Amino acid sequence: MAVREPKLVQVRTPVGTGAFARADVTVASWYCVGKGRALKPGAVSAAQLGETKLAVWRGDNSRVLAMDARCPHLGADLTQGRVVHGQVVCPMHAWKMGPGGGGCERGLLPTLEHHGLIFVHAGAVCVASRDRITSPNGEENLGRPWLLPPQTIRTSGHLVLGNGFDTGHYGPLHGVELIDAKRVEEDGAVYAVDIRARLVRKRRWRALGLTGREVVARFIGVGAGLTWVSCEAPLRFSVLFSATPLRAKEGGGCRTRVAFFPARGPAVAKLRALGLMYGLVCDDRRVLEGMRFRPNWTAADACLRGYAEMIDGLPHFGGGAGACG
Ligand code: FES
Ligand SMILES: [Fe+2]
Repeated sequence: MAVREPKLVQVRTPVGTGAFARADVTVASWYCVGKGRALKPGAVSAAQLGETKLAVWRGDNSRVLAMDARCPHLGADLTQGRVVHGQVVCPMHAWKMGPGGGGCERGLLPTLEHHGLIFVHAGAVCVASRDRITSPNGEENLGRPWLLPPQTIRTSGHLVLGNGFDTGHYGPLHGVELIDAKRVEEDGAVYAVDIRARLVRKRRWRALGLTGREVVARFIGVGAGLTWVSCEAPLRFSVLFSATPLRAKEGGGCRTRVAFFPARGPAVAKLRALGLMYGLVCDDRRVLEGMRFRPNWTAADACLRGYAEMIDGLPHFGGGAGACG
């Protein structure tokens, strides 16, 4: 009897069905895990990065250290440990974590304290350099930001941080007419688009004296956890948006933080810029809450699709401390 060859079926994975907007995957990227001043020397804090619980503390010279909270020995919770000479001592068998004499360093994650916030990189190998956190172009000194209160949004952080790339919603939701969107050349884990648009149909724009004014801004997605907006017109300001994934069991979604950097100038100009940014964010928050992504892309979704493609291409972070002992 003739043996039939098995049929080969070619499976194409559409953009946005990799890691993008998936609640069960945390992508290797920089994430904000809280305010710097909330982390006191000598204390071990817990931070959630998707399904992974982290232990975060200050080592020698106040440097922030972070690793998976499961001890690399037998998995005790390191957030129940104590800090001795800048190392966390596990509550179970007293293994020491952190740089210095006899400490386990393998599972330490890259960290950065900047803008009054603490950033941790999910995964030992950084997909984007630290200077992409300090400013939109990695060079400018932006001064101290205004930190807005954190919020929980029950949708993927990718949809929150990718909102500016979704040019198709500018008109219907914000009363902003798109003129032009151009991709900017960047390296692998950074995705940037230059936007030109016009503020047209919203009472808010009239109240701010901005009706008919042109918007010139650059949106820069830094990995899957941060997005910069650098606005040149009609008002100058920069914003760093962060979204950190929450545990599915606790309702999922993300915890967002906003660092707002007004341009130097009179207070009234700074408040107008904040009003412009805040109005847009409030419109978005309403529709993003509970949004469940499906990849039914159209030509008008090209920018958001490019951002999704960048995230789909990033490695996944599974937590876990390195082998020590
Ligand atoms: S479980 Fe942490 S030292 Fe044993
Ligand atoms: Fe929006």
